[in-house]
Amino acid sequence: MDIISNFAVFEGGDGSGTTTQLSLLKERLKNSIKPVFFSTFEPTDGQIGTLIRAALKKEISLKPETLAMLFAADRNEHLYGQDGVLERSGRGELVVSDRYVPSSLVYQGIECGDELAASLNSRFPAPETLLFFDIEPEIALKRLKGRPSSEIYEYRDFQEKVREKYKTFLGMYRDAGVRVAVIDASKTAEEVADLVWSELSLMPIMKKSENTP
Ligand code: TMP
Repeated sequence: MDIISNFAVFEGGDGSGTTTQLSLLKERLKNSIKPVFFSTFEPTDGQIGTLIRAALKKEISLKPETLAMLFAADRNEHLYGQDGVLERSGRGELVVSDRYVPSSLVYQGIECGDELAASLNSRFPAPETLLFFDIEPEIALKRLKGRPSSEIYEYRDFQEKVREKYKTFLGMYRDAGVRVAVIDASKTAEEVADLVWSELSLMPIMKKSENTP
């Protein structure tokens, strides 16, 4: 499996706090001189990602397989498009994405079977670092309750399967040479942010640059 240097991903079930943590990281890195930091996310805010978001919010109805293909298409643009993940990480930026291939292997693996999810994503290289935000689905879903609309995967049975399935893939990534860390996402946002920071500090790009968070 090819690995993209300078690229880290945040993964976890819905409500595990990946999005909050990415904004906290952004704040922290604002005070650093180096490296140039690019935070990004999937589904993206491009046209394919927007279509995906509509399906997640139940505004349009798509077959699970169609959605699986759209996630892969969105990712292809995200990765290989102009100013995309590959281009930025290749020129020495630290790129951190809120979700990437593991989300498809887990969510679409559950929905459409592992074979389709794996084949649609087989061409994408792995990240250098993978942080898995681990939390009881019950607690995570409670965090989402205040939101105006729920999405198609935000229910307990599905999220239990998501948590289990992530754990099987973490081993696969470790074996492939990806640095995998399990973050206890039930801690406070500040505590989690510290854990995230210490994990990311181990990336070679962070060692090269003298950061002063
Ligand atoms: P978000 O809640 O992090 O914005 O992600 C949106 C939802 O999309 C979340 O339920 C996870 C799901 N998802 C997939 O099912 N497959 C994917 O490949 C990605 C990137 C997200």
